This record gives sequence, structure tokens and C-alpha cells, in this order.
Amino acid sequence: MSIHIAAKTGEIAGAILLPGDPLRAKFIAENFLQDAVQYTAVRNILGFTGTYKGKRVSVQGTGMGIPSVSIYVNELFRDYGVQRAIRIGTAGSIREDLRIRDLVIAVSACTDSGANNIRFGGRNYAPTASFNLLKTAWDTAVSKGWQPRAGSVVSSDMFYTEDPDEWKLWAKFGCLALEMECAELYTLAAKYGREALGLLTISDSLITQEQTTAGERQSTFTQMIEVALETAVS
Ligand code: HPA
Repeated sequence: MSIHIAAKTGEIAGAILLPGDPLRAKFIAENFLQDAVQYTAVRNILGFTGTYKGKRVSVQGTGMGIPSVSIYVNELFRDYGVQRAIRIGTAGSIREDLRIRDLVIAVSACTDSGANNIRFGGRNYAPTASFNLLKTAWDTAVSKGWQPRAGSVVSSDMFYTEDPDEWKLWAKFGCLALEMECAELYTLAAKYGREALGLLTISDSLITQEQTTAGERQSTFTQMIEVALETAVS
């Protein structure tokens, strides 16, 4: 057992899906995994291990934002030996040609977060996805007839920013979407020598102010879960 995860050694699989929402973890365990067993409920951050196509996979919530994801991912890598971690979440589009419900594969994650400033003493680290997982996810999505977008995302510490136009500078420099976790996941994977990837569906657009309905989020989330699970067990 680690400080924030109640699992015993061996109860968490080498490959794990990481939604922000713990109830998404439960949904995935109940609808996509076989023989899923819950291994933690500390702070209601639920985690489950089951099998997908005969291979062990875990799925666990991380909460929202870099400090929260940092706690869980540190413990998963350091205390449970997780080798492969795939974040599945939502993001806000900052490009006209990226519409709600599109699937984004995060190649790299820029950030305004203080975390890597603290960690690297003001040097700029470039948090980057695992190429192996990225390629598998891309090929999986394309083989299903979907059209994913691959590129840089922005992991922001602020959902509600003081400056409503802050995203425009990131867009000018080619970033696709805003989210709040990938930079820390990628940095920790590099530190521990593990594989990490972020898959994101566009839930809203900062340009058009469009938002997905709960029903639309569910169906696009299902596509993303399939890509994530195929990638996790590849
Ligand atoms: N900002 C940060 N994270 C998000 C957003 C956003 O606008 N939309 C979905 N996740």
C-alpha cells in the first residue's frame, strides 16, 4: 500500500489507463474489462484491475490537475512498478480546424505549471510521449477508420484563467488543445524510464464556445477507450 493507493503489491497491472474521473475508471472496469477487481477507494479515487483480450490491465482515476496526477503517477511508477500509463481525458480546442469530439494524441505537452519550474530550477524540460505508444495508438485509431490529430497540447494549472485570451499565444505556436495533466505524466515517465501517452477528446472549443453534450462525450469517450486499451495491451 502506498500513501494514496490501497492496492497490495502485484494487484496493479503493468499497463494502466488513467482517466481523471474515478467514476470513468469504474465505467471502464464494468464495461470493457473482464473479471475486474477494485483495488483501491482511498479518497474515492477508484482503481480496478481486470483483463482486456486476455491481458491484465488496470484503470484508475487521477483527479484533475498536475498536483493530483503527480501524486498518483509517482506512486504507480515508484511503488507499484507500472510500466505503461495512458491518460484518457478531455481537452479544450484552441484551433479552428479541431472540432468537438475529435481525438487528439498528445505528442508533447507545453505547460504553464510551476511543477517543472520547481523540479528543474527554471530550466525548460520538454515533456514528450512514448513514441512506441504514440505509433500504436495512431495506427489503432486509423485502422478503425477514425482520424486522430497528433501534436502538442498545453497542460495548464488554471481552468479559469484571469486573461480569457491566454490560449492565443499557445495556438500561435502550434499547440492544439488545453488540458491539465499530460506534462506531469510525461515528465514522470521519463524520470522512471516508463512509457506514457495522453489521448484526449475535444470536449469544448475556446474559439467557438461549443461544448459537447453528456451523451456526445460518452460516445467519443468510448472510441478513445478502445484505442487506449488496444495500445495498453499491444
Ligand atoms: N482548459 C483546461 N482543461 C480543459 C479545458 C480547458 O479549456 N477543456 C477541457 N479540459
